[in-house]
Amino acid sequence: MKAPRTAATAAATLFLSSSTVATNNPLTADKLEADIKTEELQNVLWNLNHIAINNGGNRAFGEPGFKASLDFVLERVQTRFADQFDTFVQPFNHTYDKTLEISVTGPEGEDVFVISPQYNPPTLVEGGITAALVDTPVDDERGSACFADQWEGLDVKGKLALVKRGLCAVADKSILAKERGALGVILYDEVPGTNIVVPTLGAENIGRMVPIGIIPLEVGQSWKSRLAAGEEVTATLLVDSISETRETWNIISETKQGDPNNVVMLGAHLDSVQKGAGVNDDGSGTAALLEIMTAVRRYDNFPNKIRFAWWGAEESGLVGSLYYTSHLTEAEADSIRYYFNYDMIGSPQPDFSIASNENSGVGPQLLDEYLATKGKEVRHGEFGSGSDFVGFIEIGIPTASLHTGAGAPYDACYHQACDDLDNIHWEALTVNARAAARAAARLANSLEGVPPRAKTSPNLRTRHGVMQSFKRWTALAEEASNGHTCSHKGKKIRV
Ligand SMILES: *[C@@H]1O[C@H](CO)[C@@H](O)[C@H](O)[C@H]1NC(C)=O
Repeated sequence: MKAPRTAATAAATLFLSSSTVATNNPLTADKLEADIKTEELQNVLWNLNHIAINNGGNRAFGEPGFKASLDFVLERVQTRFADQFDTFVQPFNHTYDKTLEISVTGPEGEDVFVISPQYNPPTLVEGGITAALVDTPVDDERGSACFADQWEGLDVKGKLALVKRGLCAVADKSILAKERGALGVILYDEVPGTNIVVPTLGAENIGRMVPIGIIPLEVGQSWKSRLAAGEEVTATLLVDSISETRETWNIISETKQGDPNNVVMLGAHLDSVQKGAGVNDDGSGTAALLEIMTAVRRYDNFPNKIRFAWWGAEESGLVGSLYYTSHLTEAEADSIRYYFNYDMIGSPQPDFSIASNENSGVGPQLLDEYLATKGKEVRHGEFGSGSDFVGFIEIGIPTASLHTGAGAPYDACYHQACDDLDNIHWEALTVNARAAARAAARLANSLEGVPPRAKTSPNLRTRHGVMQSFKRWTALAEEASNGHTCSHKGKKIRV
């Protein structure tokens, strides 16, 4: 981006113009759309990228870059926009984890490219675990080493299991390896090369897994053939990691105007992964929400409240949004009439994709119609489990989500260090932010086409599931805060 403005200059500009904020200027979709400017989105993303650069390269949960991102958003929504918005910072705790060091040494003593998943347990032996590799069968239909029967007859006790990635959670493979007595897992990727996406094992699985090193497909396949030929292959896996409870935050900010019982909500996550600045994931959604909010404050005369959420610890398992939805009272849940989720909406090779379900009402159509007028081909799908819409769907709130694709070819820098300012398709981001602005304006003015919250028993049962999962996390957090984590170096890290 050329000649980026600093936050301070932007602040001065806004202070000067704040006396001109109009009253009796009705909110319309057209006006809000016209207010969303590419250069302002660039300004926000320049700031978020800069925050990452100044804070060890990321904006991840538990790291200083997240706190700086929080302060950046608060400076605008809480300080500058205090006249138009009420802002609430919601604290919560979660298990922070970081791999300090990881290495895999091959049979010839060679260093092998390796990455560590989130919540990887440490190898507790000086110098790491050196052991024979035991191959596990590849199953490209059910997933390799995903089920107990696939481990039958394998003698992995005291050894390192060689496993192919894919089809089931990495944690499932690790839990089964531990149950069979393996000391660790060498997981080889499904796709060639070293552009390996970092998975999370989930804080809820701490204590049930063995250490893992994730290596390239090519290396895994070559070891596999050597094992098949009857050769003994020995490797060393070293993981030095810490985990401890850390506090983090959601920002919830809503218009003073509008009926508190009819709230239209927009959400994006504010945290990145530890590997990068998270400019597309999810600086893009964060910037869209900030600019929509900046525009909304110029207008009034809308009957429904607009609420913006910047979620914390999404990358650690949707933690902030699940904390929020699981702590809503029935009345508070009823008051949220719609939830829009914007996560990764500026992918460099955008694949415009809207997720919805039978309770999504008019939301997907509002996004789709605008994108179609801009010549975008939109794909429609069902919700997965990959973003902050999950908690809202669980409690039956009408929900829609927009995203433009993760992983190559859509976003080859997904969860990588290169998810920086060059990793955005500015036109796609602008069009998506405008679509989001229009949809918000429409529902702020009228809830026509919005179904009631679904309160059927399956949803309530799943809500119970969300609560249960939270209780387990809370218990783990307590466990972590009372204990300590050892590393292979015998260092004791106070938590
Ligand atoms: C987070 O943990 C700290 C330390 O145990 C505690 O004081 C605080 O109340 C916790 N916060 C929440 C929101 O649970």
